[in-house]
Amino acid sequence: LHDVYGKQNIVLCGFMGSGKTTIGRKLARALQYEFVDMDDYLEKREGKKIADIFAEVGESGFRDIETDCAREISDRTGCVIALGGGAVLRQTNVALYKKNGLLIHLNTPFYRIVQNLSRDTSRPLLQGDKEKQTRLLFNKRKKIYLNCADRSVTGTRISEIMDAVFRAI
Ligand code: S3P
Repeated sequence: LHDVYGKQNIVLCGFMGSGKTTIGRKLARALQYEFVDMDDYLEKREGKKIADIFAEVGESGFRDIETDCAREISDRTGCVIALGGGAVLRQTNVALYKKNGLLIHLNTPFYRIVQNLSRDTSRPLLQGDKEKQTRLLFNKRKKIYLNCADRSVTGTRISEIMDAVFRAI
């Protein structure tokens, strides 16, 4: 548990609905770390919902705000940080989060993600023609997550994913 003793951050990346927020909150409690959910952080900072930010400034404007948030958070230590699904699309962000943190990919299977997202209406990238588009984005993103993460863990149930994360840190 080298990062626990060093109070490195533990940073969770992965697709929308992969369990980053749920796992992150539990992990923070178990390790007595502070929990930071980057989507919440960003919404509070902007005083707006993500869907409204997308509507106003588009995806690229949203990504710029995401990078500003990464800069603000990356100096902290002793945090479990749940990233937004696209927060590792920019190498700058990856470097910022890895500076003080171990980057863990939650490699949750697609069928489980579909279950987790089935009632979601808040994520702009999931609106419209659902499952096919989501599958395409999932496949594209998976390569990106595997490439940038220090560790990748697979599990379906929350308890399984938690165990896998504990083995990984
Ligand atoms: C996004 C994922 C969302 C949120 C935004 C964009 C993405 O976060 O940041 O809607 O590009 O995958 P979650 O992964 O927490 O849903």
